[in-house]
Amino acid sequence: MRRFFTLVDVLLVLLLFSEAPWAVWGSPHCDQTSSGVIRPHSVAITEFGAVGDGVTLNTKAFQNAIFYLNSFADKGGAQLFVPAGRWLTGSFDLISHLTLWLDKDAVILGSMNSNDWPVIDPLPSYGRGRELPGRRHRSLIYGCNLTDVIVTGDNGTIDGQGSIWWNWFQKKTLNYTRPHLVEFINSTGVVISNVTFLNSPFWTIHPVYCSQVIIQNVTILAPLDSPNTDGIDPDSSNDVCIEDCYISTGDDLIAIKSGWDEYGISYARPSTNIIIRRLVGKTNSSAGIAIGSEMSGGVSEVHAESLQFFNSKTGIRIKTSPGRGGYVRNIYISDMNLVDVKIAIRFTGQYGEHPDEFYDPTALPIIENITVKDVMGENIKFAGLLEGIEGDNFVNICLSNITLNVTSESPWNCSYIHGYSDLVSPEACEPLGERIYPGHVLDCYHLPTHLWSMSNRKRSSWLRSW
Ligand SMILES: *[C@@H]1O[C@H](CO)[C@@H](O)[C@H](O)[C@H]1NC(C)=O
Ligand SMILES: *[C@@H]1O[C@H](CO)[C@@H](O)[C@H](O)[C@H]1NC(C)=O
Ligand SMILES: *[C@@H]1O[C@H](CO)[C@@H](O)[C@H](O)[C@H]1NC(C)=O
Ligand SMILES: *[C@@H]1O[C@H](CO)[C@@H](O)[C@H](O)[C@H]1NC(C)=O
Ligand SMILES: *[C@@H]1O[C@H](CO)[C@@H](O)[C@H](O)[C@H]1NC(C)=O
Ligand SMILES: *[C@@H]1O[C@H](CO)[C@@H](O)[C@H](O)[C@H]1NC(C)=O
Ligand SMILES: *[C@@H]1O[C@H](CO)[C@@H](O)[C@H](O)[C@H]1NC(C)=O
Ligand SMILES: *[C@@H]1O[C@H](CO)[C@@H](O)[C@H](O)[C@H]1NC(C)=O
Ligand SMILES: *[C@@H]1O[C@H](CO)[C@@H](O)[C@H](O)[C@H]1NC(C)=O
Ligand SMILES: *[C@@H]1O[C@H](CO)[C@@H](O)[C@H](O)[C@H]1NC(C)=O
Ligand SMILES: *[C@@H]1O[C@H](CO)[C@@H](O)[C@H](O)[C@H]1NC(C)=O
Repeated sequence: MRRFFTLVDVLLVLLLFSEAPWAVWGSPHCDQTSSGVIRPHSVAITEFGAVGDGVTLNTKAFQNAIFYLNSFADKGGAQLFVPAGRWLTGSFDLISHLTLWLDKDAVILGSMNSNDWPVIDPLPSYGRGRELPGRRHRSLIYGCNLTDVIVTGDNGTIDGQGSIWWNWFQKKTLNYTRPHLVEFINSTGVVISNVTFLNSPFWTIHPVYCSQVIIQNVTILAPLDSPNTDGIDPDSSNDVCIEDCYISTGDDLIAIKSGWDEYGISYARPSTNIIIRRLVGKTNSSAGIAIGSEMSGGVSEVHAESLQFFNSKTGIRIKTSPGRGGYVRNIYISDMNLVDVKIAIRFTGQYGEHPDEFYDPTALPIIENITVKDVMGENIKFAGLLEGIEGDNFVNICLSNITLNVTSESPWNCSYIHGYSDLVSPEACEPLGERIYPGHVLDCYHLPTHLWSMSNRKRSSWLRSW
């Protein structure tokens, strides 16, 4: 299967290698940690009358503590310490230069009364609530227009007690779209680390219109059949780093988004420079990493590596639809291990779900430059269900070094896509049948350095013979 390399190919590779290596890996946004941030002032939530009995409602204590700590914002910031205990609360909002610290055995519990979750305007890039027209409930932990805000601790827990919301959703008695567990809007320098999130009413962590977001070493759990309990949804945000997380929920573990149809197109804020690494998890009905379906502001430069998904429906999925507009490009997935996963890779070009009847059906998304490499899979049903859009092919789809133990007799089903493949087993579908190496390396996103390392030994021995 391996190609022979000609001198021209080798020179081409040397040329590519000498050009700037990829910028995102080298960028510092994954390397910062919160551990260096020292807040000169710290108060405990108990100093504001909070009672950790799991029954007393502590919303006012959280609000008062944060109001008090606001006076330290220009003095290096402050820390709000939540000790062991069960701290029931409604939604509260954070401020800049704040660390919310959850001690071991501290549990922040979301109120089970919907009145404790105020109602706020929809996001401009969605034009309405995601599941109901109009406004939406505010997240339990909320921040808007902030800089330098940290949620961390010694693996304390934030439990949304979402089952009541899942029931309201299923019985269709909601008046507004369900709240997220944590949402940051238009904020810069957000760190979420060393915390466990349980039972979100809706998506768990939602940074939207944010930059410099680090999510490290968090555990996110919700029942596998809970509705729309996505793990982490970076939305119209840039420079996001997600690493060392374990996520098991009822919907996508990570879903990268950027607004919905005509609202997302006119707001035009993309998600870009997203790094995901060392992610482990399972989702019975959805994907390990999804892009979309809301992607109207565009999604680009997503690099994900060291992924392990098991007992899941789908490994990697791109969801879009005519009417979305926008683009998904320059996506690089590598080193993925799948066990008991129904569909390894899935593209859905007709996802549907529009905010209203005013979307423009001629607004076609551009899907291009998607590289998936170094994948192993055990007990996979379908290798790839790759469905593009008629008249709007998804192009430069590149698959390299993928070995899947597949049970279906037709492991690939591809329509309206085009791309290349190498070392793929079972052999890829015909529209991906052309070999990547050496002729189409330039059509494949971020593969040159891969080729370099893959052929390094071979080439150097080969060069010596010159
Ligand atoms: C998480 O906790 C560990 C152990 O206490 C600590 O070394 C690390 O810096 C913390 N990480 C972050 C990002 O806060
Ligand atoms: C975002 O926050 C910054 C800083 O608080 C503010 O200046 C800006 O107007 C905000 N933008 C939006 C769209 O709210
Ligand atoms: C965020 O900033 C924008 C623009 O300055 C302002 O209109 C909005 O009220 C601010 N939101 C909050 C919650 O402070
Ligand atoms: C992850 O969090 C746990 C518990 O807070 C801590 O013991 C461990 O050191 C952390 N690991 C890293 C890599 O930060
Ligand atoms: C943090 O706590 C959760 C839930 O109790 C647990 O599953 C997880 O392993 C812990 N994480 C670490 C890093 O200790
Ligand atoms: C919806 O509104 C009705 C009427 O105000 C109210 O009785 C009900 O509790 C609300 N439902 C939820 C889930 O908040
Ligand atoms: C997982 O999904 C399958 C198929 O949709 C369903 O039959 C099963 O009940 C689900 N299991 C759980 C634990 O939700
Ligand atoms: C193929 O991918 C596997 C991981 O799935 C990796 O261990 C192996 O080194 C890769 N092979 C090549 C030739 O890159
Ligand atoms: C798939 O895995 C099963 C069980 O490990 C093994 O018996 C079978 O030979 C494998 N099939 C392929 C095509 O590798
Ligand atoms: C392949 O996918 C198309 C939809 O994209 C579907 O209509 C068709 O039935 C599928 N074919 C097979 C053999 O599964
Ligand atoms: C697609 O990827 C290739 C190879 O990395 C790159 O040269 C090209 O600029 C990318 N296309 C777009 C539209 O970004």
